[in-house]
Amino acid sequence: MSIKELESTIHALAKKGKGILAADESSATITKRFAAVNTESTEETRRAYRDLLITTPNLNNYIAGVILYEETLSQKTMDGTLFPEKLKALGILPGIKVDKGLVILPNTSDEQVTQGLDGLAERLADYKTKGACFAKWRAVYAISTVTPSKLAIKANAEGLARYAAICQANGIVPIVEPEILIDGDHTIERSAEVSERVLHSVFNALFRYKVKLEYIVLKPSMVINGKKCLNKASAEQVAEATLTILRRTVPAAVPTINFLSGGQTPEEATANLNAMNALSSHLPWNVSYSYARALQEYPMQIWHGDAKNSVAAQQVFLERAKLNSLAAMGQYDGSMETELSIA
Ligand code: 13P
Repeated sequence: MSIKELESTIHALAKKGKGILAADESSATITKRFAAVNTESTEETRRAYRDLLITTPNLNNYIAGVILYEETLSQKTMDGTLFPEKLKALGILPGIKVDKGLVILPNTSDEQVTQGLDGLAERLADYKTKGACFAKWRAVYAISTVTPSKLAIKANAEGLARYAAICQANGIVPIVEPEILIDGDHTIERSAEVSERVLHSVFNALFRYKVKLEYIVLKPSMVINGKKCLNKASAEQVAEATLTILRRTVPAAVPTINFLSGGQTPEEATANLNAMNALSSHLPWNVSYSYARALQEYPMQIWHGDAKNSVAAQQVFLERAKLNSLAAMGQYDGSMETELSIA
């Protein structure tokens, strides 16, 4: 393992006021997202859309890294440059989603576990020659009266920790993503209870696998009420509950926590992130974002498959990234939503 490589990658990713763009939707997921804006999903439309995102002028002011999907790693931007090379030239680090998706864990209530460990070291070596500096692996946990079970929590923690150890052994910084789903009618208190158990188990496994916490990015979900819960928590309540659980479970050695948006609206995801950074100027970690939907929803709607909308889509995308950058420093205000502040 080269500590130097890990050090330089984490240093770039953990910069205050910068976040990570998740543009690593699998082909099935992006096809669903495109369908919602009446756009056909082909290799070329996926390429064109992701080209638009990453070549947004001045994006590197707010985005330190972009997580790519395997297909994109070998695609080229309009000027004929491979995506990872283009990102590096723009001062943004390329990363890669490396898990192979979810399968049912037998003997549970249809809970899911993440697969993709077989051959991972070889794949990482290949991704690295193509420019990837960091990776992502996502585990998911659904909340119901009986889930997540101890078995699913343990199995997913093992997967995350083994993946993280393999990444570090290959000079790649792992994004460790335990996502507790927002679906359902659970309260914020129940989300807190589950989050604490899940994160405790993940950090226990990371310890057992000797993962160096100094060189990981934690990408958790926020502690928040389920989408169908009638009692909707305010940004301050989400911030308070999330920080309480993170302080209990995440060692200060972890340099940066970059949240996923998980189905929150773009405005909610920004306001909640801001509330955390506004609550305390002495957090043990950098607290930032690694959003897919909350960054991409508006630009994708504006673009909807038509190149003539690209510039307008880029402008809205940059605006959203800027607002989240401000939120990562506790300097966002809801009134900024109405003014276009990009000069
Ligand atoms: P969302 O921000 O849309 O939740 O996506 C983040 C992500 O990378 C999911 O794996």
